[in-house]
Amino acid sequence: MAGAGLDIVIMAAGKGTRMRSKWPKVLHRLGGKSLLQHVLDTVAPLGARRIVVVTGYEGEAVQAAVRSPNLVFVRQEPQLGTGHAVQQALPLLGSDGTTLILNGDVPLLRAATAHALVSACEASRLALLTAQFDDPRGYGRVVRAGAAGGTVPEGGLIKRIVEDKDASPVDLGIREVYTGSMAAPTAALRRWVGGLRNQNAQGEYYLTDVVASAVAEGVPVVSVQPESRTEVLGVNSAGQLAELERRLQREQAEALLDAGVRLADPARFEQRGELHCGQDVEIDIGCIFEGSVSLGDDVRIGAHCVIRNAVIEAGATIRPFTHIDGESLGARVGAHASVGPYARLRGGATLGADVHVGNFVEIKNARLGRAAKANHLAYLGDTEVGERVNFGAGSITANYDGANKHRTTIGADAHVGSNCVLVAPVTVGPGATIGAGSTLSRDAPPGQLTLARARQTTLAGWKRPTKG
Ligand code: UD1
Ligand code: MG
Repeated sequence: MAGAGLDIVIMAAGKGTRMRSKWPKVLHRLGGKSLLQHVLDTVAPLGARRIVVVTGYEGEAVQAAVRSPNLVFVRQEPQLGTGHAVQQALPLLGSDGTTLILNGDVPLLRAATAHALVSACEASRLALLTAQFDDPRGYGRVVRAGAAGGTVPEGGLIKRIVEDKDASPVDLGIREVYTGSMAAPTAALRRWVGGLRNQNAQGEYYLTDVVASAVAEGVPVVSVQPESRTEVLGVNSAGQLAELERRLQREQAEALLDAGVRLADPARFEQRGELHCGQDVEIDIGCIFEGSVSLGDDVRIGAHCVIRNAVIEAGATIRPFTHIDGESLGARVGAHASVGPYARLRGGATLGADVHVGNFVEIKNARLGRAAKANHLAYLGDTEVGERVNFGAGSITANYDGANKHRTTIGADAHVGSNCVLVAPVTVGPGATIGAGSTLSRDAPPGQLTLARARQTTLAGWKRPTKG
């Protein structure tokens, strides 16, 4: 998209003191994904020849937590400012072309905006992403020509950026801010960054001083504006992270509503990953979707469900307070199946069409054939369940002997009564009936009634003891 001569530098070395966390700021999560991974995913379509992430505080943790094509890391120790951060990246950049520099703590930048910035640079100009803020406090201000006499200019040529802590009272009145993203001709950037000084209020090497260097050399400085303000909001505190989370959730909810998904309340819906929805999907309040989730046509999700790494096929109903976590194996609910309320599906739970799973039923690494039922208080682990099997209330598969896991197989049309324990490895034949309260430790033959419990007796003439 942006051509072969593009390098990208992402600054992620700071601790983020204002987060008051032991975690590096860029690993805090927004919509289920780290801030830094958001930035990496945004720039991936730009096709850069190299993406250099500058790490420092907890650099190894940052390096281990993110991935992207053409990614390299460079360590900045100590952290002497954003200009110093770019200095560390210079040896890894090409000798020509354009360098796009982004802050690792500005997560919602759009790819189209990053691309516009690179295009505006044209490998010969310095392009800055700027925005008008009603409350510009804390940000670097864009000083344009004609600023004399206390008036705030709009639209004059850019002369320099002044950091908030270095700003004069006149500068403080400027509402156009530098948002932390720029694109520069790489060869010129080397010169400018090499010449940075740290004589300023914070004793830091400010990347933003390259603007004055460009102006001094007669290199044009241009500005690009983002489509929305949300794109350029940075995360410096837990409060700002929460604010961005709300904006992201709102945007995701609106995209789903636009696609016809019926969210009972877009403000009470959380998507922390990928969510694909078919037609006529209904989602009640308080649901959380994580990882990768796919909902087929006509799927209904009841209130307060948490669903992660799962595929729910067309027409299935997930009733309130159900927890589905496919973990790394995934979970699948077949067409027109009904799950919940209060059900729990774990990794490898695979339910066929028309299956019914009811309250307080846990299913792990088990396959249930078409129209099988486990409606109340049950555990099915490492189990193969045939079609139309009825698994009774309070029954479980005992799959773990304290050292190893074993499998249970239940043939089609079998009927397992209430409160049974199937001690694996064990097989129940097709059409078998297991009497309530049985503990099976041997296979049960097909088509017959198997009982494994004490016979009921009544003692004639027995009397209760009385007090002596
Ligand atoms: C910076 C800009 C400011 C702009 C604002 C937008 C400078 C000097 N100022 O200020 O003009 O309005 O972003 O959000 O660039 N970092 C390093 N190494 C360092 C220092 C910082 O990698 O030595 C990283 C941080 O981890 C962070 C990013 O650079 O991801 C920005 O640093 P931060 O301290 O947040 O800069 P701001 O004060 O926000
Ligand atoms: Mg910042």
